[in-house]
Amino acid sequence: ASKEIQAAKDAHELLRKFYHHLLVNTKEGQHALEYLLERGFTKESIDKFQIGYSLNSWDFVVKFLAKRDFSPEWMEKAGLIIKREKDGTYFDRFRDRIMFPIFDRHGQTIAFSGRSLGADEPKYLNSPETAIFNKSKILYNFHLAKPNIKKLQHAVLFEGFADCIAADRAGVENGIATMGTSLTDEHIAILRQNVHSITICYDSDNAGIEAAFRAGNLLDDAGFQVKVAIMPDGFDPDEYIKTFGPEKFRKDVIDASYTWMGFKFLYFRRGKNLQNEGDRLSYIEQIIKEISKLTKVVEKDHYLRQLATEFSLSLDSLKQQEKQIYFTEK
Ligand code: CTP
Ligand code: MN
Ligand code: MN
Ligand code: MN
Ligand code: MN
Repeated sequence: ASKEIQAAKDAHELLRKFYHHLLVNTKEGQHALEYLLERGFTKESIDKFQIGYSLNSWDFVVKFLAKRDFSPEWMEKAGLIIKREKDGTYFDRFRDRIMFPIFDRHGQTIAFSGRSLGADEPKYLNSPETAIFNKSKILYNFHLAKPNIKKLQHAVLFEGFADCIAADRAGVENGIATMGTSLTDEHIAILRQNVHSITICYDSDNAGIEAAFRAGNLLDDAGFQVKVAIMPDGFDPDEYIKTFGPEKFRKDVIDASYTWMGFKFLYFRRGKNLQNEGDRLSYIEQIIKEISKLTKVVEKDHYLRQLATEFSLSLDSLKQQEKQIYFTEK
């Protein structure tokens, strides 16, 4: 089995280099390169992240690997080619896609994610789970970000590859991303060995805000100091940087991120009309419930005062209600 694993790793390394070559140096890859440059990717980041292009062919990889004596059975298990049921022949998994190599913590390529150039579905096609690739344990860009995360004692968590790469270009070099999955316990365990403070910077759309709420709760429960970065409605980090530039991203998004409690103040407000009495009361109750979970008395006091001021309520009654909730929820 260790021979098979080595073969899988070797094939991924070879293909990473070849896909990159196709993107950067060949006529076949030119439209893909233009697509990336148009989107704001730079030559430097294309190189740094070893982005590539897979040819619009059914058997380029099949032949490429066969010529180098890789066993097709093993290459199928490695997720690079797929077997046809009807005649047992093989075809390429990734065709006419922008190729993002996925690196393990040592910088070894262990999988790919291929983005379609047009509106082809799926938008991102990932390698399947294999002996060398387990999506729930991989954080994209961790091998490059790790020294920066250690130095800054802080990490920034993104939703996608494009966001992570754009942020890197904008000077945020301690960024990592999950691969289209929600944050798992394994991800959290890896993070906890390296850092205690994280800014979540997901897309500012409905799905992203819900995912940030879930990830934030997991990280908060795991003892991290959590912050959440918010952008104008509908933007993701990549689009924000392209529209407003790197400085504004660092200053108005990353540095201006909300504390975890501050984010929850916003989160529970969504979809509510605070002019409406019922909505207002249920919002206040939700927030008091969140405040009752805080462990530091000073923090509790701070947020209760904030609530009292905003809704012109007496601090005493809020404190009373907080105590009530605190004891009934226990
Ligand atoms: N994703 C996926 N499959 C899809 C859509 C998304 O695996 N069909 C994953 C990818 O890892 C992607 C992340 O979820 O990077 C976030 O999704 P989305 O916000 O839709 O994509 P973007 O990262 O914004 O990608 P792009 O800017 O290229 O459209
Ligand atoms: Mn290069
Ligand atoms: Mn998204
Ligand atoms: Mn996005
Ligand atoms: Mn995007």
